[in-house]
Amino acid sequence: MDMQKKIVMSGIRPTGFLHLGNYFGAVRNYVRMQEEFECYFMVADLHSLTTHPDTKELKENVHRVLSENIACGLDPDKAALFCQSHVYETSELYLYLNMLAYKGELEKTVTFKDKVRQHPENVNAGLLTYPVLQAADIILHRASYVPVGKDQEQHLEMARNFANRFNHRYGDVFPEPHAFNYGDELVKVPGLDGTGKMSKSENQMATLYLSDDDEMIRKKVMKAKTDSGPTEPNSTKPDYIENIFGLMKLVSSVETIAKYEGDYNNCVIRYGDMKKQLGEDMVQFITPIREKAEGIRNNPAYLKEAMEKGAEKARKSARATMELVRQAMGLNYF
Ligand code: TRP
Repeated sequence: MDMQKKIVMSGIRPTGFLHLGNYFGAVRNYVRMQEEFECYFMVADLHSLTTHPDTKELKENVHRVLSENIACGLDPDKAALFCQSHVYETSELYLYLNMLAYKGELEKTVTFKDKVRQHPENVNAGLLTYPVLQAADIILHRASYVPVGKDQEQHLEMARNFANRFNHRYGDVFPEPHAFNYGDELVKVPGLDGTGKMSKSENQMATLYLSDDDEMIRKKVMKAKTDSGPTEPNSTKPDYIENIFGLMKLVSSVETIAKYEGDYNNCVIRYGDMKKQLGEDMVQFITPIREKAEGIRNNPAYLKEAMEKGAEKARKSARATMELVRQAMGLNYF
């Protein structure tokens, strides 16, 4: 890989199905970054062990998340697309970083406190040191850019702290990792129920998954909340109507959007027609991704090759960093 390029690293949770919010919020940016940067995109299977000690579904989840990301345009020949557990150096660096991570700061992590509240019966050490493992993931490739959402800001700040602490204690090895996203293009994808953004945990009918079939997509869109329409020309739109327009802007043509904007402003909008159109445009958008993902998921040989390619690239970068790490720490006895 080109050593002049800035290094990008991000982790993908192998839990659940990708939805439209993941696509426009994250995956689409990864697809663009792989053209410009040296990219490491990792399925965080080890992280999932902190809260899902049962590993029965791991294989299926890893295959699904890889297939869906590739179907969205991630290219195993451009980016290093790999599984965390395939890069053993991660665990080594995690161990070293654990010596630089303090109990107090780990206990203060918001995600940790949330998990303690949700599952007081499973407060394991891996959960406490989750941010240390994430820092290892990132700095193992000496990445500077980490495309993540707001929910990961604190973890990233901790990664910066651990990297700086390492550099101060042992010598300069790591650049500071920072969040990276393309300008203000971090689009918010609203849910179909008029409240908040599309997310996995909320109402299933409010979220469009990339695995939803055509009938399901149409059904969900038709159920979106509307009202009887404006009675005054050029009224401001209520949130739930704004959301439907917001979704249309993601997948429909400019002409379609202009037509419904005009109808709204002239108080002749028919939401039934608008949702029918949006449903069709969503089907057009999602169907090729779903079909491609299914094809990949049913092709274990392709998936194996993709994972091996990714692991190879990630291990190469990891080995080079770990040489520097062991040297800096004085773990070189001959
Ligand atoms: N913690 C991240 C999440 O919950 C996933 C993740 C693991 C990650 N390792 C990472 C993200 C490294 C960015 C960089 O989504």
